[in-house]
Amino acid sequence: METINFVDLKKQYSVIESDVNESLAAILKSGQFILGPVVEKAEDALSQYTNANHAITVSSGTDALFVSLLALGIGPGSKVFIPAFTYTATAEVIALLGAEPAFVDVDEDTYNISCDSLTEKINHYQRSELSNSAIIAVDLFGLPADYNTIYDIAVNFGLHLISDAAQSFGGSIENQKVGKLSPVTTTSFYPTKPLSCYGDGGAVFTDDDELAMKIKSIRSHGITDNPYENIRIGTNARFDAMQAAVILSKLKIFDEELGKRENTAQIYNQELKGVVKTPTITNQVKSAWAHYTIRTRDRDELRKFLTENNIPTMIYYPKGMHEQTAYKKYHNGNPLIVSEKLCGEVLSLPLHPYMSEDQVYYVSEKVKEFIG
Ligand SMILES: Cc1ncc(COP(=O)(O)O)c(C=O)c1O
Repeated sequence: METINFVDLKKQYSVIESDVNESLAAILKSGQFILGPVVEKAEDALSQYTNANHAITVSSGTDALFVSLLALGIGPGSKVFIPAFTYTATAEVIALLGAEPAFVDVDEDTYNISCDSLTEKINHYQRSELSNSAIIAVDLFGLPADYNTIYDIAVNFGLHLISDAAQSFGGSIENQKVGKLSPVTTTSFYPTKPLSCYGDGGAVFTDDDELAMKIKSIRSHGITDNPYENIRIGTNARFDAMQAAVILSKLKIFDEELGKRENTAQIYNQELKGVVKTPTITNQVKSAWAHYTIRTRDRDELRKFLTENNIPTMIYYPKGMHEQTAYKKYHNGNPLIVSEKLCGEVLSLPLHPYMSEDQVYYVSEKVKEFIG
């Protein structure tokens, strides 16, 4: 059997090679590298794919969060409620803006933000302490969070809502695509993400015309049409034409790739149900399957056994954000029980569109062999 890779960008490249090479050569000849027509074309394609009125490309998923929070006016005094079980970028941008990340526990089954824990945490604050505050829900491992409920909570408490969809581009709820599920959605095109480029990249999606205009201005140093007129404080978070060309090439095969991810996940589900805790998918919710993450108390021993059998795995994430040295000061020290338990039990198995079914069955067999 061929080597099992955790993700396989080389195989993917062999599928899009001529298309992407041609586009990149055209950009090299054009001399237009930052923003410009190819970036605009990618933004149109992304807006069309998600059905969001605006898709604004930026330099990374982290910057997508940063420019969104800045455009919403989040800063000193703002609280931003986020799940503790997430990647560091979700928390970091809040702290960088001088706002306060407020860590919330996650749901035992979906691993996304727990609506009960969220309401409880918000209720710790007086209304007057929550002016210009926000919730960032994260679609962990590709599974969209429970936006119907989270949106109601946000409206009820007068909070902005951002979806950190770095891992879930391509997912959906009741046929509404990620990008359209929250007033503001951010994603990442980091090479290992479901839709990725060959470097850093990201995008913000919204239907709000004024917010979109602000975000476009902020990603280019706070300018409008005149490049030497700075009407607000911004940053450099621009996307570049070469990465936009890669996104356009990969969008052509994206739905097919999502189908292959789904197929792999279904085989894992069928083979591993009852052996380890398999991912929970709620009705009408489609995951983009960025990762297939199982849970077992014997995680570390299982990981060692799989490594010995040439099966690569990853631990997303070994530590909750509320326990990280840099962020402890924002937390009251109360345990976030589910997040802490997950950190000791989760293990992500290889999943990418170019895995053969034989490989998926082999990984499943090895997991079963270890669990016994
Ligand atoms: C949940 C989440 N948010 C944000 C990011 C940041 O994206 P980027 O690496 O493109 O800055 C990531 C990337 O791994 C992520 O997983």
